[in-house]
Amino acid sequence: MKLFLDTANLQEIREVVSWGILDGVTTNPTLCSRENLPFEDLVREICHLVPGPVSVECVSTRAEDLVQEARKLCQLAPNVVVKIPVNIEGLKATKILSAEGIKVNMTLIFSPSQALLAAKAGAAFVSPFIGRLDDVSHHGMELVEQIVAIFENYNLETEVIVASVRHPGHVVEAALIGAHIATVPYSVMEKLVKHPLTDIGIERFLQDWKKVSLK
Ligand code: G3P
Repeated sequence: MKLFLDTANLQEIREVVSWGILDGVTTNPTLCSRENLPFEDLVREICHLVPGPVSVECVSTRAEDLVQEARKLCQLAPNVVVKIPVNIEGLKATKILSAEGIKVNMTLIFSPSQALLAAKAGAAFVSPFIGRLDDVSHHGMELVEQIVAIFENYNLETEVIVASVRHPGHVVEAALIGAHIATVPYSVMEKLVKHPLTDIGIERFLQDWKKVSLK
């Protein structure tokens, strides 16, 4: 499974790139609003750091404006993927953009039918928001299961990005279901590697190593 970092923070991106496990980054307007750089500079810098696709969200609401905005965003760097919310205007724009070879990540997916329509419109990625469904007492991972099953039934090439990830369990469940990608906030990325027994084990080995005779 590919792992993306869900952030617009350059420090977090630099750090996780250095771990050697990062496949891409997803941003959204909320994440970009937390950073100090002007938007276009921020996107260029993120794209320069990341060895893979970087999702950048369009904020227009009409199809023709979404198309113009997406074309402009793609000029910023070759690895920009445009993020477009799934509604009728978004589907129209995705159809046009995908025909031009522009990769679209259809976002704010909360139902399997939205994912199916996004894939039919040519989206390269769909982003179901798992944590936000859990927040309203749904089982977000069921949505991922349904989307993965539908895409398999029809050999659809659209990749599923499990988004709105809140804890390591979400990532493990996504991997067991066979989702292509999980996009993970930095705090969760750190938790994916941490285990108290590993820390205790390292500490014990280091203590015992001091007692080993080297000559
Ligand atoms: O990037 C989209 C998504 O991951 C947002 O997550 O935590 O705001 O629901 P959250």
